Amino acid sequence: MRARPGATGDRAQSLDGTWSFRLFDSPDVVPAESVAIDEAGGQWQSIAVPGSWPVQDVGDRPHYTNIQMPFPEPPPQLPEHNPAGVYRTTFDVPSGWADERIVLHIGAADSVHGVYLNGTFVGYGTDARLASEYDVTEAARPGANVLAVVVVRYSAHSFVEDQDGWWLAGLHRSVRVEARPRVSLADLDARADRDPETGVGSLDVRATVDFGDHGLALEGYSVRTTLVAADGTPASEPRDAVVPHLASKTYTFSGHIAKTRWDDLDVEAWSAESPTLYTVEAQLLDPSGAVVDRTAVRVGFRRVEIEGADFLVNGKRVWIFGVNRHDHHPDTGATVTVDDMRADLVAMRRMNINAIRTSHYPNDPAFYDLCDELGFYVVDEANIESHAYNWYVCGDPRYRATWLERGARMVARDRNHPCVVQWSLGNESGYGVNHDALAGWIRRADRSRPVHYEDAIRFSGWADGGHHGSDVVCPMYPAIAEIHAYGQQVAAGEADRPLIMCEYSHAMGNSNGSLADYWDVITTTPGLQGGFIWEWKDHGLRQRLDDGSTRLAYGGQFGDTPHDANFVADGLVSADVVPHPAAAEVTWVHRPVVSTLVDGGVQVTNRRFFTGLDDLVAGWELVVDGVPVGSGALDVAEVGPGESVVVPLPPAAAELQPDGDGRVLLTVTWRTRADAWHAPAGSAVAWDQLTLRDAPLRAGGASSDAGDLGGLEPGTLGEARPNVWRAATDNDGFKLLEDLVRVREMGSPTLIQWRDAGIDTRPAEEIVGYSSEVVDLPAGQEVRHRFDVPEDAVDLPRVGVLLTVDPRFDELRWIGRGPHENYPDRRRSATVGSWTTGVEASPYLLPQEFGLRTETTQVELVDSSTGDRIRFTTLGDPFCWSATRHTPAALFAAVNDSDLVDDERLVVCLDAAHRGVGTGSCGPDVLPQYRLGAGTYELAYRVEYLRPAESLTGEENSMRRGM
Ligand code: GAL
Ligand code: MG
Repeated sequence: MRARPGATGDRAQSLDGTWSFRLFDSPDVVPAESVAIDEAGGQWQSIAVPGSWPVQDVGDRPHYTNIQMPFPEPPPQLPEHNPAGVYRTTFDVPSGWADERIVLHIGAADSVHGVYLNGTFVGYGTDARLASEYDVTEAARPGANVLAVVVVRYSAHSFVEDQDGWWLAGLHRSVRVEARPRVSLADLDARADRDPETGVGSLDVRATVDFGDHGLALEGYSVRTTLVAADGTPASEPRDAVVPHLASKTYTFSGHIAKTRWDDLDVEAWSAESPTLYTVEAQLLDPSGAVVDRTAVRVGFRRVEIEGADFLVNGKRVWIFGVNRHDHHPDTGATVTVDDMRADLVAMRRMNINAIRTSHYPNDPAFYDLCDELGFYVVDEANIESHAYNWYVCGDPRYRATWLERGARMVARDRNHPCVVQWSLGNESGYGVNHDALAGWIRRADRSRPVHYEDAIRFSGWADGGHHGSDVVCPMYPAIAEIHAYGQQVAAGEADRPLIMCEYSHAMGNSNGSLADYWDVITTTPGLQGGFIWEWKDHGLRQRLDDGSTRLAYGGQFGDTPHDANFVADGLVSADVVPHPAAAEVTWVHRPVVSTLVDGGVQVTNRRFFTGLDDLVAGWELVVDGVPVGSGALDVAEVGPGESVVVPLPPAAAELQPDGDGRVLLTVTWRTRADAWHAPAGSAVAWDQLTLRDAPLRAGGASSDAGDLGGLEPGTLGEARPNVWRAATDNDGFKLLEDLVRVREMGSPTLIQWRDAGIDTRPAEEIVGYSSEVVDLPAGQEVRHRFDVPEDAVDLPRVGVLLTVDPRFDELRWIGRGPHENYPDRRRSATVGSWTTGVEASPYLLPQEFGLRTETTQVELVDSSTGDRIRFTTLGDPFCWSATRHTPAALFAAVNDSDLVDDERLVVCLDAAHRGVGTGSCGPDVLPQYRLGAGTYELAYRVEYLRPAESLTGEENSMRRGM
């Protein structure tokens, strides 16, 4: 493994494309002739390289497991049925390569692979997520060559590749052959640093020269190195360094490594906010001074360090607004293109994400180039997870070399990337001697980055445990109280490592409850710097069903067993990168500007560490009782990194009396000034709603020209019936994986408790005391519902009513929190305003509760073709509501969103109270303050029927915030 880019132009030949393929039941039955130069028949199919074969209809299907292995045999034994694929292709060696070395580069193959060129075995590779390179000079022939690669689905290495995800065998990264000079630059290790105090940069370049067949013998070679700025201008004079060779003097030869160093560079810093890159160009000169090889790598000048309990980038204690990312595509499995990766990063930056943990293996190499360029901090993770046997394999000497190879090869591949700020020893593999061996190797090989490993601190205590295995405290799914307690230890001098959660806020289904509560504590507690949300993307795989339709499938839907069902669908975005509703909360929590109300106006704080806010423009909107009454631009002068300024309130806001009636809010929104790589001009990146007058929200009065409800066609508006059930979310419990909850105590037991109490089946009146009162008005009705929740029925999903309405009402307008879906513990991003949307489709792969809006004073169901409206206006406190095409029962019964059929009616839920969503599928359940306790709940509203003439109170905002 080396850190030099592959050859290009006429020195390289991509072998990506369509290959021939044959699948066998096991490597033991692969016939020798299938890899021979003249293949002797058999049924060959076509297959795409790169690609995962289980998504290519070749007779072997995807298999999903989380912790458990897909087969019962213990390490290192394998199942008898262990598919092996033989890939074949041909290529021509150009005549111009006659004097060169020829190298075959296999981007990655899952699980292990053996290579045969022209019938000759040339090597064997065992890491499914790093490249293997083979010097095939001897086996290659001028002209046509026959390449066969045997890939085996499972191997002894599968036991350290037991990541939560699909098992997807195949040649899933690019394959190429390239020509390299006989004497060549094998590796360019460029260490760029910049002192944040003085701004002086330094660069240490170590060029390793491979003398090939000449071994250690040659003298007189040198390496010429130049630093070039992004605009192509030299940032340094070229420097020459002699390549050491084996001298007569003993004990001094340290390898053919030419070292060049600059100590006084005037360079700009790299950071995720300002990702300035430079290029290091290297030329290898032979004794006559002729250039015999050249290469270049990009570098960024930045310093990463831990000081006290602070993780610093360029001297600043940056926030880690992170997410965990897999290489995943719904059609191609583990194979992703540069465009796919860029699309991920674009969508991430729209959520103000600045950091990625490459869970749980080195991602596609192009990913790191993109992170360097676009600006992301990366925790680069070794391809090691032995979850099913986590306390066993990590101490097994047979796997010692595996640990070292996987970690060391990752470091060798990625160490020039400025984006990489920490090395991870892998995931969920217990903590054993193999880890310490790897940690030791990495610390010596690269002193410039901390080591990260969760299991090192998991069992031995965050304050003082696992120091050898982790320089950071990187727990997964801790409770807020736990990270807060750690911060207190830091404050008391009892702990000295920064805490950055390697995984938190499990985004499975309707989730990410209390994300803002986490950040309230993170931003105010020493030692805490953020974390990586689990995870970026659902891993749905597109599956064609018998009727020709397609769906995104999860575990078990390919007939795979054992499996862990929809636990593989836990992303902030769908497999097709459509953001789930929680994306808005993520964007808000990570916002780069915070606006607060202070004496004298609005205080604007720039949360960036290295750049100003010139790329953004601010606007304000005044909202009285949810209705916008004025707006304009907010004039904010320069705000440097980390600085705050106070700007006066807009006159319209300043004129308001502080103690009148009605709630007065000022929304301050920051939008992109110009088109940027991640978003068009005008996209909202930060917003805050400030309370100018903290009075209860008033609802609009009765409408003067509302019609009699009797004017509605019979059956238009159904009767409101009490309802305490919601289609359980993944966080309430796993409806498909009850055993996991009952037997293995994973996930939340709440759903089981609900089902045991019959909450999902019994009439609500049997669970809570219920009464209601309806008063007919000249136009409309006043309705009052009362619910008494007894002590033994606490922690209900919701308390409210459900009614159904003629589906011609297809548009929703409301005054309350929006515009996006929001729940009591996931609504800080949702502002109070007047909003409109169509009836939404279920956004989650596994159907479950969705679409709620909280703190609403009025909702209208609109027939968009006639303009007819049914309006509900609170007579008491604001309420929560949703209007969808699915009953809770239908959502709960469905197992894939492709099963959902629209109800004949619009299903409207009006709730006096609704439980939060929490993250109980993996992590803390809903916090006590967002649960429903015993007591009396009231829901009172006026319902009116309006004809087109009258419009919703005030001006309307559109559903989209323009994110
Ligand atoms: C973590 C693990 C992840 C994933 C997650 C649950 O324990 O590191 O890989 O399994 O739980 O979705
Ligand atoms: Mg795992």
